[in-house]
Amino acid sequence: KYEKVWLTFGMASLVIFLLIIGFAAFWKGTHPQSHLETIDQNNVEAHDSFKPENLGLTEVADGKYKVNIVASAFNYDFGVDKDEKAVKTIRVPQGSTVLFTITSKDVVHGFQVAGTNVNMMVEPGHISRYEAVMKNKGEFTIVCNEYCGIGHHQMFGKVEVY
Ligand code: CUA
Repeated sequence: KYEKVWLTFGMASLVIFLLIIGFAAFWKGTHPQSHLETIDQNNVEAHDSFKPENLGLTEVADGKYKVNIVASAFNYDFGVDKDEKAVKTIRVPQGSTVLFTITSKDVVHGFQVAGTNVNMMVEPGHISRYEAVMKNKGEFTIVCNEYCGIGHHQMFGKVEVY
């Protein structure tokens, strides 16, 4: 009699265990956390973060910033400045917390801020996010570290911490 109870208990545990794995795999997706949010790569402007006027640097609170970027071959779009010139340098004070939000319009790109721990893979159809504290002063080059075509080496930008 007891064997039957234990057998049932064992089987039930196994089923529950498999359900948890299945649930985790399908519900949460097999992507890393930064890729949880999906986006239509052909219409990134539909997402609030990637509307042209919301690109680039915004101060959200004292010492807190966000930077929205659209990557495409072979450019990082940080929006334009007041003279309608493409922004290439992001300037933030030392010690600020910066949330980088980026997506790609075409192929897989990289987004690495050399000399910091910001290093993301940017996939079309997904939004990558990374928040970093800019501890050190200096100029940090943004590079694409995923080969994305002939202009791969031309993809760059800069973060200036002052
Ligand atoms: Cu973009 Cu390499």
